[in-house]
Amino acid sequence: MGRKAVVTGVGQYVPPGVLTNKDLEKMVDTSDEWIVTRTGIRERHILGKNLPTSYMGVRAAQMILNEKNIDPLEIDMIVVATVTPDMMFPNTASRIQEKLGAKNAWGMDVNGACTGFIYALATGAMFVESGRYKKVLVIGADKMSSIVDYTDRNNCVLFGDAAAAVLLEPGEERDYGVVDFILKTDGTGGKYLYMPGGGSLHPPSHETVDKKMHFIHQEGRTVFKFAVTEMANVSEEILQKNGLSGTDIKYFIPHQANLRIIDATGKRLGLSDDQVVVNIDRYGNTTAATIPLGLYELYSQNKLQRGDYVLMAAFGAGFTWGSLLLRWAI
Ligand code: ACO
Repeated sequence: MGRKAVVTGVGQYVPPGVLTNKDLEKMVDTSDEWIVTRTGIRERHILGKNLPTSYMGVRAAQMILNEKNIDPLEIDMIVVATVTPDMMFPNTASRIQEKLGAKNAWGMDVNGACTGFIYALATGAMFVESGRYKKVLVIGADKMSSIVDYTDRNNCVLFGDAAAAVLLEPGEERDYGVVDFILKTDGTGGKYLYMPGGGSLHPPSHETVDKKMHFIHQEGRTVFKFAVTEMANVSEEILQKNGLSGTDIKYFIPHQANLRIIDATGKRLGLSDDQVVVNIDRYGNTTAATIPLGLYELYSQNKLQRGDYVLMAAFGAGFTWGSLLLRWAI
């Protein structure tokens, strides 16, 4: 089977509202210095209170359709990676489908937390490679501000809101497009990073609200240790599997959770700073959006050339983690 899934467009939507470290200093007992040295984050963007995740996803996808002059009716499938869906159901993909006017597309959400975009991109790629679909939108979108407790200094400094998207289309050349991916899950890590309330285990009640169960809970230090080790392992594994080394990679786009995790992973892969995409300083951790935001940055600055290898890797709640190797084909 020669058909590959090729990324032919990239878009993003970053809400205009900015929450700086200085702003957070007024909300919780923290400091710009602590946040910058421990995480690398300087500011994050926050979506308006009454606007949902789909609002950002639609705009990121629309940017691609506008740039490439594609009729929404041509879209076959929409995969949305998110942990902050507009509602429990219908899925956010359906809401985006409606607002885009993509009447011929079906869609589904993928919940892989911070690994969500890699899971979703791998999923979309399989539908293109199989020959089933020709235009698949893969969107990573999260309104993390909707599940962050802004009185909890351990978490509120880390997260931001954004969406970014790619369009996948078939390509006929071997080894171009989505070349390979490795996807992992270890459910024993679930207890270290989760949002306990709102699902069938703890349906919403006055008690769940009082106990702050509708917010992110995490044991940051434990998550940090696993992330540092496993993001590097899964990146090395995919390089070895494909007969490549760090020097063959033009850009590495790691999930942006903490600059120290990013730096440690880049070092273990033997990458130089200019190979590693970093935007955590401006956006914080936008969960499913971090990797496509990084790709958009490269794309919009014309930094990608045909034949370039782009390596992506992420680690998040589940635990989930994975890597994806892309060879730029346009
Ligand atoms: N300002 C000031 N002090 C703080 C803050 C803050 N915002 N937050 C925590 N502290 C304090 C802690 O209370 C602690 O104080 P103590 O020693 O008196 O108890 C001290 O700083 C050190 O805390 P640590 O947790 O050891 O700090 P660490 O260096 O580990 O940094 C962090 C914490 C940034 C959360 C880090 O552990 C991390 O990035 N973890 C990984 C997060 C991650 O990758 N999550 C996965 C993605 S999320 C998803 O999937 C949805």
